[in-house]
Amino acid sequence: MRRIAIPLSILMATTACSTMQSGEPGMRGATSANGMISPILTSADAVDSSTYAQPQKARVTHVALDLDLDFADKRVGGTATLDVKAAPGVDTIILDDRGLKIASITDEAGQPLSYTVGDPQGDKGAPLAIVFGDARKIRIAYTAPAEAEALQWLAPEQTAGGEYPFLFSQGQAILNRSWIPTQDSPGIRQTWEARITAPNPLDVVMSGVRQGEPEDVGNGRRAFRFVMDKPVPPYLISLAAGDIDFAATGPRTGVWAEPSVLPAAAQEVGDTEQLVEAAEKLYGPYRWGRYDMIVLPPSFPYGGMENPVMTFLTPTFIAGDRSNNGLVAHELAHSWSGNLVTNAVWEDSWLNEGVTSYFENRIVEAVYGKKRAEQEAALAFAGIEDTLAEVGMDAPGTALHHEPGADELGSAITYDKGHYFLRTVESIVGRERFDAWLRQWFDNHAFQPATSQMFYDDMMANLVRSPEEAQRLKLHEWIFEPGLPSNVARPDPAAFAEVDAAVRAYADGGTLPAGYGAWTSAERMRFLDNIPKQRSAEQLARLDSALGLSKSGNNEILFLWLELALANRYQPAVPQAERFLSTVGRAKFVRPLFATLMGEGDWGQPIAKRIYAKTRGSYHSVTRGAVDAIVRGKS
Ligand code: BES
Ligand code: ZN
Repeated sequence: MRRIAIPLSILMATTACSTMQSGEPGMRGATSANGMISPILTSADAVDSSTYAQPQKARVTHVALDLDLDFADKRVGGTATLDVKAAPGVDTIILDDRGLKIASITDEAGQPLSYTVGDPQGDKGAPLAIVFGDARKIRIAYTAPAEAEALQWLAPEQTAGGEYPFLFSQGQAILNRSWIPTQDSPGIRQTWEARITAPNPLDVVMSGVRQGEPEDVGNGRRAFRFVMDKPVPPYLISLAAGDIDFAATGPRTGVWAEPSVLPAAAQEVGDTEQLVEAAEKLYGPYRWGRYDMIVLPPSFPYGGMENPVMTFLTPTFIAGDRSNNGLVAHELAHSWSGNLVTNAVWEDSWLNEGVTSYFENRIVEAVYGKKRAEQEAALAFAGIEDTLAEVGMDAPGTALHHEPGADELGSAITYDKGHYFLRTVESIVGRERFDAWLRQWFDNHAFQPATSQMFYDDMMANLVRSPEEAQRLKLHEWIFEPGLPSNVARPDPAAFAEVDAAVRAYADGGTLPAGYGAWTSAERMRFLDNIPKQRSAEQLARLDSALGLSKSGNNEILFLWLELALANRYQPAVPQAERFLSTVGRAKFVRPLFATLMGEGDWGQPIAKRIYAKTRGSYHSVTRGAVDAIVRGKS
């Protein structure tokens, strides 16, 4: 058990746009674009071990990027101009730098400032210490090389159109330091602006509001301008560039995608306006203006990424029937949990992902109904149970708040246990009280970082009404202790009654489910998750031909099929898997498929190695890192 007993102290705090320097005794320095300076936390549980920054001494409040995208050399280069605030007597600021090629660092007037780059430490990169003296703006001229871990440069062949290259970034968790020199920590919020040039006819989008029309700057290039006037943690700065078009899905929502993908993408996210309305009804106004999305090429390493005003999505969620739209609800929900109230440290990422998974389920319930929401929640619960059965109820990594490095348990803890924590609290105090509490949590911590302890303290102060209720809630156990508390609000056992009966009938007598064709996507997934894992080639062939698994247009189903088939050394699935792994780079699919093959000894390992030799170069660094650890035994 670990209980952090440090009193919360929010220093350097000003509330949005009020008197600038209040609460910041002695701090001096430039004001960011609109005068909003976000507070930082100074309690011990808010110290980020993944950054070199020392924000109590000096911190970045605003980032202005002026960058050129160079597709020929796969480099991003230009300048980053940082506004700095510093405590009295402090003349040095430390930034995070992962492999940036720095040409010069000056003040605004062009006077050189001295700096040193320390020894790099793995993923954390290196400390970049700059002596700024009296300057309050620092200008760094630099290039992010082709290897920059956040960026993936795609050849035209890796796009749907096949004609133009594509570039996208992925910042979370600590990758943005490979292309933006700033303090890359979720507890240090910064406003930002950018001017980005790209060759015609490519379009650029960012997680900020595009300003006006692109401007012709000669040499066949255009400049795009963006502003994010709300302070955000820097992992949320993102960029994508390619041959993309836009389709509106509502007055304040829309989607970008390559022209050939756009119709299917727009059709799939056609409910987005309703999702935003449902979210607002639950937990208060959407505070970011527009909610747009971009559907990226299939090498995007995640299902989605909640970049503000521009959610990034994998195209693999497109199923034709909006059945994977929990993903959109999820990324949208992060506009509150994650982007508005942000985990101060990655050890508390359940505050982002767990709260979001709960919120996602509430949006799904509001828009798609109770049955679908309850089925999706039941799938999540099965994931928690599987993981706990595998690692044990005592494994320290199964606490919501866990130590660095214990985050290896996939999504079952941070996402699903976090989801079930809030579901349990809701079931005990009632929906009305719970919703009012969560809404005030978002309102009172808007544009600020938070820790597990703060969440706990806030529940104790503003939700819990009596010692008896506190006892029933087990808040401390839920947040700080491993395993699954006994008061968990289990999923409705009826959620999958028909499917579970069909699983038994198939397991017992090989009866294939007659109703499969009419099942929801969640029902199909439940069936494939729960049927016996050991299948003969004949049984697999029968299953595939009866249910059309290998031809499924839903990648979640196709993935479960491939996993089952490869685990049984089913040869006909090998070319299917090879095709899938050659285009899809989503780590959630790619990693387990390689792991399954590697688990199949003399049969699977040569297949995994052969396929990976061919596909490795087409993956983003996130996926490559995950698969390297499996196929090449590196970690
Ligand atoms: N913020 C995450 C993606 C992420 C997590 C990036 C950790 C880097 C480190 C995003 O919101 C997410 O959770 N995506 C899921 C969506 C799913 C749970 C609906 C995904 O990509 O599968
Ligand atoms: Zn998420």
